[in-house]
Amino acid sequence: MAELRTVKVGMIGLGQRTETLLASIFHMENIDVTAICDVRQERIDKINSIFDSHSSPRPKAYLDYHELLDDPNVEALFVPTSWNSHLQIACDCMKKGKYVGIEVGGASSTEELWQLVHASESTGVSCMMLENCCYGRNELMVLNMVRKGMFGELIYCECGYEHDLGEMSWAAETGLRLERTLHNRYRNGDLYPTHGIGPIAKILNINRGNRFLTLSSHATKARGFVSAYESHTGKPCPIRYNEGDIVTTVIHCANGENITLTHGVSLPRPYSRDCRVQGTKGIWLENANGIYVDGISPKYEKIDAAGNPYLVHDWDKVESFYEKYDHPIWEHFRENPVGEHGGMDFLCLNAFLDAVRRKDVTPIDVYDCAAWMSITCLSEQSIALGGMPVPFPDFTNGKWLDRVPETPSKWALSDVFPVTE
Ligand SMILES: NC(=O)c1ccc[n+]([C@@H]2O[C@H](COP(=O)([O-])OP(=O)(O)OC[C@H]3O[C@@H](n4cnc5c(N)ncnc54)[C@H](O)[C@@H]3O)[C@@H](O)[C@H]2O)c1
Repeated sequence: MAELRTVKVGMIGLGQRTETLLASIFHMENIDVTAICDVRQERIDKINSIFDSHSSPRPKAYLDYHELLDDPNVEALFVPTSWNSHLQIACDCMKKGKYVGIEVGGASSTEELWQLVHASESTGVSCMMLENCCYGRNELMVLNMVRKGMFGELIYCECGYEHDLGEMSWAAETGLRLERTLHNRYRNGDLYPTHGIGPIAKILNINRGNRFLTLSSHATKARGFVSAYESHTGKPCPIRYNEGDIVTTVIHCANGENITLTHGVSLPRPYSRDCRVQGTKGIWLENANGIYVDGISPKYEKIDAAGNPYLVHDWDKVESFYEKYDHPIWEHFRENPVGEHGGMDFLCLNAFLDAVRRKDVTPIDVYDCAAWMSITCLSEQSIALGGMPVPFPDFTNGKWLDRVPETPSKWALSDVFPVTE
């Protein structure tokens, strides 16, 4: 097996997410974190202490990321800062010729996304969203099954981000998820679309023969954060929130599919990304932990009270398909997944580093970033207009019709390729 070249990376933004990324990075060979940066010295100290505890040499530390970008000992960057800062930083990384992996989140305007696209196109440098859910086991298995034709022609999908973050309402004073709290306080839209839409967009070939055309969004009233604050503190909540407790968005795609996205972070409930992928021959429904494939899954005749026969279709458990249909990278990884989020962080970081080594386009590229992140600002506009349909810009400027195919690789997300090494 050919030895992989070590990639020297810098990390800008050293919050909680960097700690979980490091949990994967310390399992990885052939990566060297040579520089770190945060505007807050206490975060640099915290991350240094994590390197100390792993007996790893401390990276060079910077308070100003512009200085880090001139460090010749850094060839690629991870940027887990905040939603309002990472796109500008990503543009600056690309202008210095350095690959950049940004964290998830939505955009404030389509203008900042155009700047991101132009920075990548004018420099030839890739920007990848580190959308770890694209490397989730179930998401990749369904991609594999769809590409094998088992779901038939795709018709309809659902996805979302439903996560009880009510604690933001009482912990904001201490800084917990402070920026997210501000977005929830002042904005009203799908603020966190990419965990759900990333894998679904890949399955639907968005930006490669398909694209998002329009969306229409609606928000409910906003009561959840206030209720969470008042239950927790016993005091009246001093803040009002704009963000509707449930935001529902319907996207219509050029190839005729519809996608319903749900965003809900303020009501008590178990976590879900609400995935549903449905075609003429099969369906995956995450919330039922079920897959139904016509001709494979249980279908039997029953007799009703009047003696008439009727057909019953039953779910197969998702796990029952793992043995035969796991994505090739999970066939190798499933025995010993490492890192946070069930191993998908580890896989996603490796996918990024592989593209850096090959100087190739990342499997989640700048057009994916722009299309997925634009849902946030476009959904705000639609809600403000009473649910009016809002058109998506074509960030590819027509290239989606006839894109250069993705280089075959085990990390590719447009199609499924065997693991060769
Ligand atoms: N993929 C996932 O599963 C996952 C999980 C959690 C968070 N996230 C994402 O990771 C990102 C970071 O989340 P977090 O919880 O760590 O946030 P955080 O606010 O705790 O940390 C962000 C850090 O960036 C620093 N920062 C901000 N602007 C900077 C700048 N210009 N230069 C240098 N440092 C700067 C802040 O000081 C802070 O320490 C967010 O986009 C979040 O949505 C992703």
